[in-house]
Amino acid sequence: MGRIIAIASGKGGVGKSCVTAAAGAGLAALGRKTLMVDMDLGLRNLDTLFGMETQVLNHIGDYIRGNASLDEVITPVEAHPGLFLLAAAQYLDPSEITKEALAELFGQLRERFDVVLADCPAGIGPIFEAVIQNADEGIAVTEPVVSAVRDADKVLHCMEDAGIKYRFIIVNKLRYQLMTRSVMMSPDEIGEVLGVSLLGIVPMDENVIICSNSGKSLIGSGTPAGKAFERIASRMTGRAVPVPRLKRGRKGLFR
Ligand SMILES: Nc1ncnc2c1ncn2[C@@H]1O[C@H](COP(=O)(O)OP(=O)(O)OP(=O)(O)O)[C@@H](O)[C@H]1O
Ligand SMILES: [Mg+2]
Repeated sequence: MGRIIAIASGKGGVGKSCVTAAAGAGLAALGRKTLMVDMDLGLRNLDTLFGMETQVLNHIGDYIRGNASLDEVITPVEAHPGLFLLAAAQYLDPSEITKEALAELFGQLRERFDVVLADCPAGIGPIFEAVIQNADEGIAVTEPVVSAVRDADKVLHCMEDAGIKYRFIIVNKLRYQLMTRSVMMSPDEIGEVLGVSLLGIVPMDENVIICSNSGKSLIGSGTPAGKAFERIASRMTGRAVPVPRLKRGRKGLFR
């Protein structure tokens, strides 16, 4: 039986889709048959992160409305054997994505995949709620700034209320220099405030933007962010890969 993992954030633009894409590619490289589900209806972008805009013919709405089979809405990501994409609908009324409809869909996906990563829209709206009602694990992505952490706290509480036992945070876009100057929160502080385990720390790295815009993968790129995402994918398979302890005043862990 596969695991359904909700990837969410309170604040927008913190990196959920990049986390979904990179963790998905990393998990597939580790031999886990992985599906990324783009739940960000109307604003879909997981397909663009893999340069697949023209390959995606059907989307989640086609399945939910009964117009296409599961095989017809799932597209393999050619560059990554073992990785698949279920694209978001460009136009779909969120009220069509009910808890029951997702339960049926996710039930089918659990049978077919080892891991299903659900890239949620920002915030705690109805689609996020429907996803977490059906997820086994939850990851809140945050930047190390107070407003994003506060919103991540809200997201994690919603996940807890929905009965998700395994909840984690990923701290993305960390700027080490700002952290050492106490301008940014440290990942350890964030973990303490939120009371959940750190799944990983990803530095602010222009390679994320370069790869996103060119459809290239961060996994195997040898970049600081790419290596951080590889470690995150390993931890998601249960491997004990320590999260670096970043202390203020220590230099250059991400260099
Ligand atoms: N570690 C990073 N370093 C530098 N840029 C990053 C990093 N992570 C994400 N970005 C950039 O931040 C922007 C937002 O990322 P992304 O789209 O993944 O966020 P999101 O949380 O999915 O946004 P939304 O809430 O709109 O769905 C993108 O331009 C992406 O390239
Ligand atoms: Mg997104």
